[in-house]
Order: sequence, then structure tokens, then C-alpha cells
Amino acid sequence: MAVERTLSIIKPDATRRNLTGKINAVYEDAGLQIVGQRRIRLTRPQAEAFYAEHKDRPFFGELVEFMISEPVVVQVLQGENAIARHRELMGATNPEKADEGTVRKQFALSMGENSVHGSDSPESARREIGFFFSELEILPCA
Ligand code: PPS
Repeated sequence: MAVERTLSIIKPDATRRNLTGKINAVYEDAGLQIVGQRRIRLTRPQAEAFYAEHKDRPFFGELVEFMISEPVVVQVLQGENAIARHRELMGATNPEKADEGTVRKQFALSMGENSVHGSDSPESARREIGFFFSELEILPCA
């Protein structure tokens, strides 16, 4: 299996409830390495650009308002099959449909306030990692 990198965001509902460490523990316990990490406050133009593919969906305004409401933690996770593995660990977008033990089952509040984001393909992982990180900020252990 290939070693991949994926972009993860710990969203405002989770930073607000002091859940960063608990969520990071889920990822690290599963063997994903956090090779880049930064706590930031997204600007409105940044949030609109990051979620541009959803701009025509009815919840776009709500999604942008939420993502700029509190700090987020942006991360690069690395590991075997990291993109799919991370999405398994996150669970379904709707926390009511998320499997037991997933981050969203444990912590998410709703479809919008669902605690975490993860890239859904190698192409989006490349784009999303490049959106927040330069190569110099990504530091895997050997
Ligand atoms: S997915 O996982 O991308 O297929 O999910 P999708 O349903 O397409 O949702 C895309 C992102 O929009 C968020 N979302 C919402 N935000 C606010 N209100 C409502 N109703 C809502 N529904 C979906 C959802 O959390 C996804 O965010 P990310 O950060 O991509 O996971």
C-alpha cells in the first residue's frame, strides 16, 4: 500500500470544546503521523476559496460562517493509505450515520458542526495541502 498525505482540519466546534488532543490521539493511535500542524483563524476569502466547489450548494453561506467563527487546526497526516484511512476514522458527514468509534460519532454535533474535514481523493489532498502548507512546513520522522 502506498504512503500518502492528506489534509485534515479540526473545525471550530471541536477547537471550541478543547477536543484537539483527543482527535489527534485517534489519528496517532491509528498509525497516522501528524507531519504538519498549525492553528489558524480562517479569513472569509480563505474559507470561500477552500470550499469553492460547494459555492452553489444551499449550505455554503452557513459553512463559511461556521469555518470562520473560531480558530481551526490545519494538519497534514501521513501514512499508508492515509486518505481513505483518515476518512474511515472521521466517519460519515452526518454524525447520526457515522460508525461507532469514529471521530464524528464521538464528537460531531450536526452535518455542519461535524468536527473534522479530510481530503477525499489524491487530487484534493494535493490541492488542499498546498492551500495551507509549503513543503518546508511538512516534517515527517524518518
Ligand atoms: S462530503 O463529505 O464532502 O461528501 O459531504 P458533503 O455533504 O458534500 O458536504 C460538504 C461539506 O459541507 C458541509 N456541510 C454542511 N455545512 C453546513 N450545513 C449543512 N447543512 C451542511 N451539509 C454539509 C460538510 O460538513 C462538508 O464539510 P467538509 O469540511 O468538506 O467535511
